[in-house]
Amino acid sequence: MSIHIGAKPGEIAETVLMPGDPYRAKWAAETFLKDVVCINQVRGMLGFTGTWNGQRVTIQGSGMGMPSLSIYANELIRDYGAKSLIRIGSAGAMQHHVKVRDIVIAMTASTISTPSRGFFKELSFAPCADFGLLEKAVAAARAKGTPTHVGGIYSADVFYDERPDLNEMMTRHGVLAVEMEAAELYTVAARHGIRALAVLTVSDHLLTHEALPSEDRERSFGDMVEVALTAAFS
Ligand code: HPA
Repeated sequence: MSIHIGAKPGEIAETVLMPGDPYRAKWAAETFLKDVVCINQVRGMLGFTGTWNGQRVTIQGSGMGMPSLSIYANELIRDYGAKSLIRIGSAGAMQHHVKVRDIVIAMTASTISTPSRGFFKELSFAPCADFGLLEKAVAAARAKGTPTHVGGIYSADVFYDERPDLNEMMTRHGVLAVEMEAAELYTVAARHGIRALAVLTVSDHLLTHEALPSEDRERSFGDMVEVALTAAFS
């Protein structure tokens, strides 16, 4: 057991998918995995281990925001030996050509600050995805036919943004979408020499204010889970 994960040694696979929402972890495990076992219930941050095409995989909730994700990513790596962490989550589009329901695969994640900021002091570290996972995820998404964008995203500290100029700046610089976790995931993974990727579904649009209807969320989320699993094991 680690401080925030109740799994016994060996109960967590080397490949971990990390949705923000613990109930999405449950849904994804029950929908896509076989022989599913619940391996964490501490603080309701559910985690499940099962198999996909015969390969062991864990789906562990990360919570919302970089401080929460950082706790789970650190413990998965340090205490359970995770080798590949793939965030699956939602994002708000920041470009007109990125549409609601599209998949965004994050090559880089810009931030104002991550929980690792103090570690780097004056250095502005550039968090980036593992290229091997990235290219496999792009191939999997293209094979599925889901409209997919690959590029930079913005990992924000706040959902209720009181500084819209920052979002405008990101849009001007070609950033595809905003979410709240990937930059810290990429930074922690880099520090520990493991693989990381964020595969995101566009759930809302910052420019058009369109939002994914709730009945469509499950199907769009499912495409993303399959892309992440295929990337991890191809
Ligand atoms: N901001 C931050 N995170 C998000 C958003 C947003 O607009 N949409 C989905 N995740």
